[in-house]
Order: sequence, then C-alpha cells, then structure tokens
Amino acid sequence: MDYKIVPMSAAHIDEAVKAEEICFSVPLTKEGFERELKNENSHYLVAAGEKVLGYIGVHEIAGEAYIHNIAVLPEYRRAGIGRAMLKSACDGARERGCEFITLEVRQSNAPAIALYEKCGFAKAGVRKNFYSKPAEDGVIYTKYFRGEV
Ligand code: COA
Repeated sequence: MDYKIVPMSAAHIDEAVKAEEICFSVPLTKEGFERELKNENSHYLVAAGEKVLGYIGVHEIAGEAYIHNIAVLPEYRRAGIGRAMLKSACDGARERGCEFITLEVRQSNAPAIALYEKCGFAKAGVRKNFYSKPAEDGVIYTKYFRGEV
C-alpha cells in the first residue's frame, strides 16, 4: 500500500475527525485536533495515502511520552500501518529524549493489545473504570527505551 507517515497538518484534520468518529465512542472533535496541533507538547503523525489512512498522537512532557490516540481506518487494517505509525512515534519520542512511552487501552481491545505487545510494550497496571461509553478498565502498557539505539 502506498502511504507516507508525515506530521499531521491542518489539511488532515477533517479526514482525521471522520476516522475518529468511526473508530471511537468518545471521538476527538475538530476543535480538539486544532488544539493538539497548536500544543508544543503534542506530536501527531498521519499515515497519508489516497487519504488519511490512520494517525497517532503522542504527548511528551518531562521525558515521558504518552500515546493519546492511535487509529487506522477499518478497511486499511492488518496491513502494517498501525505498527509503522507506532514505530515512528516511538522513534520520535526516543530521539527527543523521552525515557519511556505509555498508554491506556480498553481491556477488551484485543487487536490494540496485540499490536502493543508485538511492538515491545509490557503491561504495567490497570486504571479502574478509566473508560466511559461503555465503562471499562484501562490497561496500562509501557515501553522503556533503555538500551535501544
Ligand atoms: N487481531 C490480532 N492481532 C492484531 C490485530 C487483530 N485484529 N490487529 C493488529 N494485530 C497485531 C498483530 O500482531 C499484527 O501483526 P501481523 O498482522 O503481522 O499479525 C500487529 O498487531 C500489527 O498490526 P497492524 O496491521 O500494524 O495494525 P493495524 O494497522 O490494523 O492497526 C489498530 C491496529 C489497533 C490501530 C487498529 O485495529 C485500530 O485502529 N483499532 C481501532 C482504534 C483503536 O482501538 N485504537 C487503540 C486505542 S488504545
């Protein structure tokens, strides 16, 4: 599949909003994406092909990176896009001096958990009732960059 992973720009927002609405029960809004692009601690990437195929957003503060969201449009899944975006986000966070990258995931979200485990993340804890619509625990997954070059 032909796509490039590039920093998200204002031109990507409308398609990213549509993808959020397909992928999440509590989607990030257009205003939310606009705020993210203005936030100097925010690093959003898109997989840009014939349209926005997927995106990942990371917040980096004081040497800690946090994956705010990651999604791939349903018809483009299982083609390596999620993994490629996650690798780019990890590489960027490490190069900017972060020591680890972390996230929460619904405990029922088997595809995402499989992706994180394949990419070297390990379970680090559980946040009770972290999610709404429906209420569900969030499992914390973390990857430390120690020893990686
Ligand atoms: N079942 C089992 N393993 C899966 C999987 C699935 N449905 N989807 C991904 N994986 C694992 C596999 O190990 C896969 O490697 P393989 O295809 O060689 O077996 C690996 O992850 C990489 O998969 P990849 O094709 O890069 O993932 P993707 O592009 O399909 O994106 C998500 C994965 C999670 C981003 C995608 O399913 C998605 O957008 N889900 C909805 C949004 C979401 O839940 N985001 C996470 C919020 S925490």
